[in-house]
Amino acid sequence: MTAVLGLETSCDETSVALLGEGGRVLASAVASQFEAHGRFGGVVPEIAARAHLANLPPLLDAVLDEARLSLADVTLVAATAGPGLVGALLVGLSEGKGLAMGLGVPFVAAHHIEAHALSPFLDLSGGPARPVPDDFAALVVSGGHTHLYRFSGRRIALLARTRDDAAGEAFDKVAKMAGLGYPGGPALDALAARGRAAAPFAVPRFSDRSFDFSFSGLKTAVKERLKALGVAPQTGLPEALKTRTVDEAPAALADLAADFREAVVAQLEDRLTRVLGESPFRLLTVSGGVAANSLLRERLAAWGKVRGVEVLLAPRALTGDNAVMVAFAGLVRFLFHRPGEGLSAPARSRWPLESLE
Ligand code: KG4
Ligand code: ZN
Repeated sequence: MTAVLGLETSCDETSVALLGEGGRVLASAVASQFEAHGRFGGVVPEIAARAHLANLPPLLDAVLDEARLSLADVTLVAATAGPGLVGALLVGLSEGKGLAMGLGVPFVAAHHIEAHALSPFLDLSGGPARPVPDDFAALVVSGGHTHLYRFSGRRIALLARTRDDAAGEAFDKVAKMAGLGYPGGPALDALAARGRAAAPFAVPRFSDRSFDFSFSGLKTAVKERLKALGVAPQTGLPEALKTRTVDEAPAALADLAADFREAVVAQLEDRLTRVLGESPFRLLTVSGGVAANSLLRERLAAWGKVRGVEVLLAPRALTGDNAVMVAFAGLVRFLFHRPGEGLSAPARSRWPLESLE
């Protein structure tokens, strides 16, 4: 019997999950800390670490109950070792190592971005995970990352990355300026769906012909339009708070949100098309918090159809940070005999995925 225990504590979500044979999801639990951080307009590392410490034990009990298993049934433990907030990572990493040592089972120090990149292979309807192919491209779009990788056998190559803000960060900053609160990605997505994209923002390109992303210019352009609309950008602590709901937003703001969302998706399409032209791939996984975005899902699925690329979107429930993907990344590494540093792995705030074997 296989029972993989996964722990995720890299940022502001505490999560525990159990996977069975073939990567079947047996149980999963997530405790978000939005309320604890919301009033500060961003994640406060010390608050995150303390919350993980309080959240982990009840979540562990809950998933064991749900799966009708006991700790003695666990055959492999995986915990996120980076990248992320070191204090937050240490909580789950230490817990995972301690459990693995106590139970006498192997431990895999999982890479958060690899876990996101593999999450589209998981099935949330009770079935086994899809076998991870030898060669595929992976677009990870989250609050901390906008990275495009090529997985080929043991090698992971970075094809493009953001040079400034991550896509999710841009969503959060624009949402904040628009008074929609933090994290504002989902609210901005909902607002954009009510608007009409009619005044496109330019898609930036770098003169050195790289495929890199950039979202900070877009954020500034949105700020200018907000000013012109008379909806002044909000900065500073008190203004970082939520001042309006999606329902209360004026129509002009909904149109601006639609233009912004369109610009983010258009840039992702632009880079994917150019990368595909240079080094073709047959399968693309799309993951990370921003992969929950409704326009992105629709458009990238269509993008793949037209080009003969199979586009696997992470199940919506697995786009945000979760331990299901961490357990799966651990299982895949264990099965491929590439367990990494195991018990000796430190918590790392920075940890380039392409440096992994
Ligand atoms: O993967 P994730 O949970 O955490 C990181 O590792 O960063 O991603 C969170 C990010 C936040 O920036 C959030 O605003 C964004 O994903 N996000 C969205 C949507 N849902 C979450 N952005 C756009 N549209 C959404 N529907
Ligand atoms: Zn993440």
